[in-house]
Amino acid sequence: MHLTFGEQIGCLIMPTVWKTAIVVGASSGIGEEITRQLVAQGCTVAIVARRLQELERIAQSLNTGQSAKVLLYPHDVCVYDEVPALFQKITHELGGLDVIIYAAGVMPSVQPSEYAFAKDRQMIEVNLLGAVAWFNEAAQRFERTKAGTIVGISSVAGERGRYPQPVYCTSKAALNAYLEALRNRLGRFGVKVVTIKPGPVATPMTEGLGKLPLLIPVDRAAREIIQSAQRGKANVFIPGIWRWIFLIIRNIPSFVFQKLKF
Ligand SMILES: NC(=O)c1ccc[n+]([C@@H]2O[C@H](COP(=O)([O-])OP(=O)(O)OC[C@H]3O[C@@H](n4cnc5c(N)ncnc54)[C@H](OP(=O)(O)O)[C@@H]3O)[C@@H](O)[C@H]2O)c1
Repeated sequence: MHLTFGEQIGCLIMPTVWKTAIVVGASSGIGEEITRQLVAQGCTVAIVARRLQELERIAQSLNTGQSAKVLLYPHDVCVYDEVPALFQKITHELGGLDVIIYAAGVMPSVQPSEYAFAKDRQMIEVNLLGAVAWFNEAAQRFERTKAGTIVGISSVAGERGRYPQPVYCTSKAALNAYLEALRNRLGRFGVKVVTIKPGPVATPMTEGLGKLPLLIPVDRAAREIIQSAQRGKANVFIPGIWRWIFLIIRNIPSFVFQKLKF
């Protein structure tokens, strides 16, 4: 399906209203807060993560009306074989799907001279392969229905290979490339693919990491993520100032970048 020029302009100006959503990695931090704000907008949300207790805590606090606004699905994103059937089950129980947001992610602490394959593998499996498993399902559905939004929570860390976190940066850079390719495939069907690149956000992931630059509260991050995605933006820095900071950082020559403790 090719959108007319008028439809394309309309998509940019008019924020989309979502009735049904999947949030993968919804049991804490950014995914939890996105779930809370989507439910406040009237959206029914399927929440996915490993910790059942946390999913139940969120569902209990949000399912206060007559009809359940939150449906919960315990799942480990590294069990890729489960995804096709689980995706079908969720879309059936939701009665449709307007948006899928992948917020699952890990960033274990890594010492400057540490090369721990187990940690590296976990970051690639959760941050990248899990996203591919879920988004491949969503892409097929949205290409068929010629509608829908795919939102990947990446990071500013994907903009350059930084010395403290070689594989975290790799997982996010690879996620960016995958999402860009999905956007190029699916745009012609009217499907939006949104890459979100947050800087530091106050969540369990950043607890105990000391003073972080331009740290923002999680409710602000979630609000900006939802607003940008509903406007169908392609690449979004959260907050927007990071776009300009990384424009500079991306252009620092490699031999200079090597010398920076960054
Ligand atoms: N916080 C930041 O400063 C920041 C900045 C840039 C980007 N990000 C990205 O934002 C996303 C969300 O991070 P956050 O800060 O909200 O972290 P968080 O509070 O630690 O939440 C991480 C989420 O990922 C889920 N998860 C981890 N491993 C999983 C697995 N194997 N299977 C299923 N779910 C899994 C966790 O659920 P369970 O443990 O219950 O499974 C949890 O819901 C991540 O991709 C992160 O890289 C965060």
